[in-house]
Amino acid sequence: MTDSTLANSTPAEQTPPPRAVPVADWVTIDDLFRDPFPIYRRMREEAPVHWVPAVNRYMVTSYDACHTIENDQDVFSANEDGSLMKRAMGHSMLRKDDPEHMVDRQSYGTVLRPKAIKETWLRIFQQNSETYLARLKAAGPGADLVWDYAAPYAAENLRIIMGFHNASQEDMQRWSQTMINGTGNYADDPAVWAASEQSFREVDDAIDEMLPRLRANPDASLLSGLAAMPIPLEAIRANMKMTIGGGLNEPRDVLGVAVWALLDHPGQRDQVLADTSLFPRAFEEAVRWVAPIGMYPRQTTRDTVLEGVFLPKGARLGVVIGAANRDPAKFADPEAFDINREKVPHLAFGGGNHFCAGTWVARSSVADVALPQLFAQLPNLRLDPDNPAVDAGWVFRGMTALPVLWD
Ligand code: HEM
Repeated sequence: MTDSTLANSTPAEQTPPPRAVPVADWVTIDDLFRDPFPIYRRMREEAPVHWVPAVNRYMVTSYDACHTIENDQDVFSANEDGSLMKRAMGHSMLRKDDPEHMVDRQSYGTVLRPKAIKETWLRIFQQNSETYLARLKAAGPGADLVWDYAAPYAAENLRIIMGFHNASQEDMQRWSQTMINGTGNYADDPAVWAASEQSFREVDDAIDEMLPRLRANPDASLLSGLAAMPIPLEAIRANMKMTIGGGLNEPRDVLGVAVWALLDHPGQRDQVLADTSLFPRAFEEAVRWVAPIGMYPRQTTRDTVLEGVFLPKGARLGVVIGAANRDPAKFADPEAFDINREKVPHLAFGGGNHFCAGTWVARSSVADVALPQLFAQLPNLRLDPDNPAVDAGWVFRGMTALPVLWD
């Protein structure tokens, strides 16, 4: 709009001048880690974007603002300067914009998509679930549903899908956690970098060993597909590391949160048990209610105005989908866990060109296999009144302890 059109327009038509970004100097990382939701509520009520000194970034908390960012890579780039993820895992598709991003994304082909799940992976999820349910049962009532079942189950599923036939599910868990810790190592702790770099090397070695084996004997796995593609080794290595970090903890965490929420809401648990076709709704509500990836980064490529707030070129943003998913402008009674809520699209799997490539794997392995099997095979599954469940985290959030009892 030019000055003259501004002068000629009525006051109602004029765009208000952008407001300066408010500062949330009352936010601490400890509080975010413990329980970010009251913080998000206060921030959303004040403004859609804040500068947050404690995290050295702008935090975007409204649904509309997060949605705008996801769909405009020209202004909000995923290729962040000084990205710790690039250091911890290499330069994967998650930190590229199109067209470079799309080349990497297309190299994944159809391995993670519904047809491959139906034809190949579903059977493997069922076997793995049986294996780790047996382990949980052997541990007996009082066992931890996250560490005795959800974590090894998610790790073993991912190991097989990715084609790491030369590694164990324990390796996958260690690689995932140490590289994620590197991605979040804002304190620059040398011990965290050492563990992350060790995993970086181990993953490279495992890939180097598997590629010729899979070229000689191809299978349905991701690495096998990549081995046949004209794609640089560095891209394969970075994308595989990112997928180890992004494809293990999240199904584990949504599984833990879904079980915890159902056990804590007996009316909804009974409803699902009476009609098991509702497990996918429970999954969807769990992933909205506590987004396993609570925040991810973007960076502005030029001065811009986001939902009325001015942001300078180069601004480092945290897209807080964990807050957007509880925005009352979008969701009625957003703090409540309610499998019967009106269906409104949530942002837990991101959006735009980086929309999660593993969403079908997560839905199938958790909602179609793990949740029904757990409730079917553990009669009177319930929380342990003497050992409380613990949820924690904000960049990644899930259950850190989930002791359960059954008859
Ligand atoms: C409940 C489970 C999951 C959640 C909540 C989740 C969430 C997300 C989110 C929010 C993003 C976008 C991040 C950004 O834009 O910066 C993403 C991207 C991605 N996810 Fe997932 N994810 C889950 C499971 C999985 C699984 C099981 C896999 C692999 C088997 C996977 C593979 C990927 C990949 C490859 C990308 C990058 C996509 C791209 O850049 O184009 N995810 N995920």
